[in-house]
Amino acid sequence: MYSIAVSACTQCFWRPLVDRCNIAAKRLKELFTGLVLGVYEKENGSDATPFTQAAASFDRSVSGKLGETLSISGPPLKKGKCRIFYGLHQDFPSVAVVGLGGKGAGLCGSENWESGRENVRAAVAAGCRQLQELEVAHLEVDPCGDGQSAAEGATLSLFEYDELKSKRKTPPVPRLHGSGDAEAWQKGVLYGEGQNLARRLMEAPANHVTPTVFADTIEQKLAAFSDRVTVHKRPQSWMESEQMGAFLSVSKGSEEPPVFLEVHYTGNPNSSQAPLVLVGKGITFDSGGISLKPASGMDAMRADMGGAATVCSAVITAAALGLPINIVGLAPLCENMPGGKANKPGDVVRAKNGKTIQVDNTDAEGRLILADALCYAHSFKPRALVNAATLTGAMDVALGSAATGVFTNSDWLWDELHKASVATGDRVWRMPLFQHYTKQVTESALADLNNVGKYSRSGGACTAAAFLKEFVTAEHWAHLDIAGVMSNKDEVPYLRKGMSGRPTRTLVELAAALAAGL
Ligand SMILES: *[C@@H]1O[C@H](CO)[C@@H](O)[C@H](O)[C@H]1NC(C)=O
Ligand SMILES: *[C@@H]1O[C@H](CO)[C@@H](O)[C@H](O)[C@H]1NC(C)=O
Ligand SMILES: [Zn+2]
Repeated sequence: MYSIAVSACTQCFWRPLVDRCNIAAKRLKELFTGLVLGVYEKENGSDATPFTQAAASFDRSVSGKLGETLSISGPPLKKGKCRIFYGLHQDFPSVAVVGLGGKGAGLCGSENWESGRENVRAAVAAGCRQLQELEVAHLEVDPCGDGQSAAEGATLSLFEYDELKSKRKTPPVPRLHGSGDAEAWQKGVLYGEGQNLARRLMEAPANHVTPTVFADTIEQKLAAFSDRVTVHKRPQSWMESEQMGAFLSVSKGSEEPPVFLEVHYTGNPNSSQAPLVLVGKGITFDSGGISLKPASGMDAMRADMGGAATVCSAVITAAALGLPINIVGLAPLCENMPGGKANKPGDVVRAKNGKTIQVDNTDAEGRLILADALCYAHSFKPRALVNAATLTGAMDVALGSAATGVFTNSDWLWDELHKASVATGDRVWRMPLFQHYTKQVTESALADLNNVGKYSRSGGACTAAAFLKEFVTAEHWAHLDIAGVMSNKDEVPYLRKGMSGRPTRTLVELAAALAAGL
């Protein structure tokens, strides 16, 4: 490869030696282009390697060398696996061939996702990541018959949070290989970048992303769409005038000022068309308050604003996509800290709708801030009201990271969310909103409601949802408990270990479906 690079550097032949070397080195770096190409599983009775269109055309351009090399390199490539080949093509010194599984894989009823799309995401991710490790400067990706999923796999897999390290890597920017499918590719990039923004906000430490910094960041990201977007960063005095006693009871335990972030995206030409209202829990750090959490693993509570992060990222993505829909995004932002003015177990606070709440556990603060935010959300007369919150550890116990738990009073909205999640592969699963659970939060010694269920741990995700329901009158409401999907170890193959930014893409897909009037 060195010899290729230096001999290719004809333009500097007459220049002084130093110049020549510099330019040669630059050319060499430019030559570090990686290419990801897909291959399906072999079908019975066929000898030909079942390449994708792009891979087949690459193979032709190197006189069949890719197919030959692949077949002598080992057994057929399995789904989601990757093999790298060097030196096949002058423009692409490294080629990652990735296994896409069976051709024509479609909707999988038991998995509740589009297997073909999920396979493309995972395979492209495997290729991108291996090429990233080789430090390629440029990266081209085969759309693998589904440009959007390929772009999502590439964009999501390359993300790494290293903003606070002195030695930062510059990840290669993935580009579409070939000219087809450019629109789908671009859409996938936006979906992936939306989720990456949520991941960045969640991963960032709580002393860097305070309520104020969070709100400023979202405002800054939305500045590009100022013709269709307005941003309000409501201060504490506004919350007081709105009588958000439940939210304020949480925020006053911290020295950090709370912010109620309100963003309006007017994508529908008819600005009075009823909006989709998204509400996200924005606890930028959750110590548990006086009901202090155990020290072990408490650092992860910097991501307790995952609801706000995913919801705001979804609004930004909707704006970037130019979706013809009106969206209001709301994020109550504060810390939950054990300060001198913090809630004490047994305290009674009054929410915006007048209901009184006995706070028996100060670590069940998410439902307190959401209570007021949900009341306020109704003032926009939503067409659909969706809130997302890392609300309960019980949700993680119930479903783990497989799916977001959805508690909803609307079969229509459930259907829309479910369809959206099948398309994105970032799944949802329906959970109950029985009266059974309501009874367990509406019996309280001192107040109308108790912020913990009567039988404490039993059905914890369900009693939390039943609590929120006490602040909802909207016909189409869904509560998304995202505590289980907050972080990724290795379960989702196209995300690295760390905060997941889930389910941003599903929220975007929901907005897109509602915009299309489906
Ligand atoms: C391939 O062959 C196996 C065994 O003969 C059979 O079970 C399978 O259904 C075949 N697949 C296709 C796609 O024809
Ligand atoms: C705009 O939306 C409102 C509310 O749905 C509706 O009453 C009105 O007729 C719409 N206007 C137009 C021009 O479509
Ligand atoms: Zn908590």
